[in-house]
Amino acid sequence: MTSGGTLKDRRVLVTGGTRGIGLATVRALVREGARVVTCYHRDQAAAGALAAEFSGAAEPPRIVRADVTDPAALERLAASCAEELDGLDVVVNNVGVDGSAPLAQLERAEWDRVLRTDLTGCYLVVQAVLGLLGEGASIVNVGASGALRGRPAAAHHGAAKAALIGLTRSLAKELGPRGIRVNTVAPGPVHDPDAPSLPPRALAGIRGMAALGRLAEPRDVADAVLYLAGDGARCVSGVTLNVDGGM
Ligand SMILES: NC(=O)c1ccc[n+]([C@@H]2O[C@H](COP(=O)([O-])OP(=O)(O)OC[C@H]3O[C@@H](n4cnc5c(N)ncnc54)[C@H](OP(=O)(O)O)[C@@H]3O)[C@@H](O)[C@H]2O)c1
Repeated sequence: MTSGGTLKDRRVLVTGGTRGIGLATVRALVREGARVVTCYHRDQAAAGALAAEFSGAAEPPRIVRADVTDPAALERLAASCAEELDGLDVVVNNVGVDGSAPLAQLERAEWDRVLRTDLTGCYLVVQAVLGLLGEGASIVNVGASGALRGRPAAAHHGAAKAALIGLTRSLAKELGPRGIRVNTVAPGPVHDPDAPSLPPRALAGIRGMAALGRLAEPRDVADAVLYLAGDGARCVSGVTLNVDGGM
């Protein structure tokens, strides 16, 4: 799956671009010749590493510290996009946090943390940058395919990511008449070879659930994001594209 080179010079905001799927997406976009602004929350070292990686690039990504749950920070992020890129063609709402707690122990603060980041953050980002998006723009939200199946001890995460699909479909209808497409990419459990987070035994168990016998890697998800962001998906809006090896 490729974007067919249609992302050259496109102006793109990727939230959470300093690690994992967001980082793979930023790398793929820069490779395609897109002009990228990305944000992170706390990890200054990861932001520094990204800046160093692209210090010699013709169009290095602009890296802004901005919490997607903070409307004032998002106002500043939108201002950076306006100033640096003079508008936006693509928004990738990648930021999300996971959590694990059986319902009986799921505290209200933890429920709120996950809903605020995974769902409210997306609404706030789109609202903050809406005025920068024109005809032909594309919004790609990063959900989770687990939300379609359900996962024990993850009611908050499943609820947030399932709601993100509803948000995607509603915005697709609302913004479609303005020529703006809105879609979701829904990864399954992701294995990052550069930062493995699962013990080998757990990895093997999850691999066994996938038709392809392997987990998605960040770059697999990034390729799907680029497809939906680009002109190859010009008539695609409101969909959820699973990237989970066929679970
Ligand atoms: N990894 C998986 O197995 C998996 C599976 C299904 C779905 N997903 C979804 O894919 C997306 C990316 O996941 P990932 O695992 O690649 O993420 P990750 O490695 O945890 O990286 C998250 C990125 O988002 C940033 N971030 C976190 N909270 C933020 C906030 N409040 N404001 C701004 N930036 C924030 C982080 O910056 P700091 O480091 O500075 O905080 C980092 O750059 C998420 O939506 C996740 O739910 C992931």
